[in-house]
Amino acid sequence: MNPLKHVAIIMDGNGRWGLKYKNSRNAGHRAGLNTVEKIIKETIKNNIKFLTLYAFSTENWKRPKKEINFLFNLLENFLKDKIEELNKQKIKLKIIGKKNFSSKLNNLLNLSEKKTSKNKRLQINLALNYGSKTELIFAFKELAKNKESINEKNLKKYLQTKDIPDPDILIRTGNTKRLSNFLLWQVAYSEIFFEKKLWPDFNEKDYYKIIKKYMSIKRNFGKI
Ligand code: IPE
Ligand code: IPE
Ligand code: MG
Repeated sequence: MNPLKHVAIIMDGNGRWGLKYKNSRNAGHRAGLNTVEKIIKETIKNNIKFLTLYAFSTENWKRPKKEINFLFNLLENFLKDKIEELNKQKIKLKIIGKKNFSSKLNNLLNLSEKKTSKNKRLQINLALNYGSKTELIFAFKELAKNKESINEKNLKKYLQTKDIPDPDILIRTGNTKRLSNFLLWQVAYSEIFFEKKLWPDFNEKDYYKIIKKYMSIKRNFGKI
């Protein structure tokens, strides 16, 4: 059995789901939140310590302003509603990506991180305004600035995932096989699962199936 510490998920397909069932992309984003809650529960049930969720990429700013505003309102309300509950469940919330939102949202994010910072049961990394290329460029710049030698150990110090193991599993829902600038360095040896289902249709059973499949994979890491 493979150890399983970290699952990373590209939660894709909300917009298509919303258009298909409710004639509105935003309805899909709302529905996607239910899946987030289900997946958090199942992650805890399986005693997995790190869950990284891709919620907004550096490229998603190219979307219509209306959709962007809806997404961040949704996030704000979700955090306001649920942060106490997450805290009670001993979940630590960490934002990865650059927090350059409204000061209201930045404050809420900082507060949520602070409130949950001592929790040890599960760490959720929420990737917001996250892009792997930006993350890597920042890290290389830090190495250059500090005149440190360029090696894996030093580079890792400047990644936003510096304190945690690389993902064992990467899941992308939504029937698309690409990484869309997510954790390019960190997924070097992850087991990758591309799911046909759109994110709002993805459920704990689908997730558990992936976990079980992962357990049976022979991970080589270059060895035989
Ligand atoms: C993923 O769903 C969530 C975000 C990027 C915020 P999409 O909004 O990309 O949904 P599709 O891919 O258009 O269906
Ligand atoms: C990736 O989905 C980003 C998130 C899930 C947050 P996108 O829908 O933005 O990816 P592309 O543009 O189809 O590659
Ligand atoms: Mg998409």
